[in-house]
Amino acid sequence: MKFLSWDETLFRSPEVFDPDYIPEKINFRDKQINSIVANLKPATMKSRPVNMLCLGTPGTGKTTVVKSVFSELKNVDEVIPVYVNCQLINSNQGVFARIFEKIYGYGLPSYGVPFSKVYGSVMKKLLELDKVLIVALDDINLLLDDRLMNEVIYSILKAHEEVEGVKTGLIAITTDLKLTARLDERVGSIFHPDEIYFPPYDYDEMFEILRQRCEAGFYPGVIDDEVLRLVTDLTFESGDIRTGLYTLKMAGIEAEKRGSKRIKAADVENTYEGSRKILLRKCIGILNSIERELLELIYSSAETTSGELYRKFKEKEKMSYTKFYNILAKLENLRLIDTVFKSLEKGRTRVIIKRFEPEMVIQALKEF
Ligand SMILES: Nc1ncnc2c1ncn2[C@@H]1O[C@H](COP(=O)(O)OP(=O)(O)OP(=O)(O)O)[C@@H](O)[C@H]1O
Ligand SMILES: [Mg+2]
Repeated sequence: MKFLSWDETLFRSPEVFDPDYIPEKINFRDKQINSIVANLKPATMKSRPVNMLCLGTPGTGKTTVVKSVFSELKNVDEVIPVYVNCQLINSNQGVFARIFEKIYGYGLPSYGVPFSKVYGSVMKKLLELDKVLIVALDDINLLLDDRLMNEVIYSILKAHEEVEGVKTGLIAITTDLKLTARLDERVGSIFHPDEIYFPPYDYDEMFEILRQRCEAGFYPGVIDDEVLRLVTDLTFESGDIRTGLYTLKMAGIEAEKRGSKRIKAADVENTYEGSRKILLRKCIGILNSIERELLELIYSSAETTSGELYRKFKEKEKMSYTKFYNILAKLENLRLIDTVFKSLEKGRTRVIIKRFEPEMVIQALKEF
């Protein structure tokens, strides 16, 4: 086996195209960054920050922006920023285990420590260190269910009632624009977040983001504007900038395979479908078996409304409408489906729209 030597590769820094890469310069988000920084300012003076809710469709830079602000906060002595990805968390304990680890510098022991003890230790240490805890709950809507979501928010915000003198702040991040409607009364009465909206990027913004990424990731001359425009066309159509980043990486590898120093339109066309499939598989991987079953039902049915779909699905899996609705919201958040509201004579309904070709989804589901 022979790997390309350094002067044969097209990639200056391949990691630049990875989904968790934080770019040095984040364009088109000055307003959001300034708001977050201003809201956190009190914390740098040891007082409670303004709580926030970052809202926006997938790929609008929410995670990137918050992580980049948090990395700046590393140098601020008065605060402890903890970033929590809620996607794989199914308990309040899971969230606080991460907070514990960040504060203490080591993880919880593997034997079950009761929640109250973990919680107490976290708060005690905060008081001792005299620092403000700021928790970012990313993809908060993907916590197991609404009950847990409310519990977690409550635990973080009510800390000062449990232990006097403790100061905490929360940045909730979500694609669900109606998240506040899912808060229960108890949480709604203490969580009045400053809502920070991340609008979708327009075509030119997408082009510029992808262009800068190419500049950082490829050697000069690897991709020209025309090919980059093709990538942007496809990305814009898919609606998620991640498709573009992944396509660029795969097209670069494809060009290398051909032994070429330049990416051609054909490299992009050959890898685009594959990139979509990989992103699709990643999303399906996050789902549990019931959620996959619903996805399968959607993709093997003709266009349908949420009410009709619920009736059909209930025959297979007994569940409340709320539970069903939550799963539907999750599928939409992951961009596996879209839903649009339609007015009926009596009330409103939602029409479910497929975002992928049905065969592609059914095929991908078979792999799990
Ligand atoms: N303004 C930007 N400048 C440079 N890169 C960006 C910008 N916005 C997004 N990106 C890139 O796009 C990708 C998706 O961004 P990010 O993960 O922050 O989106 P998100 O809003 O958190 O999406 P989701 O809701 O799906 O989690 C990342 O690879 C990120 O680097
Ligand atoms: Mg994100």
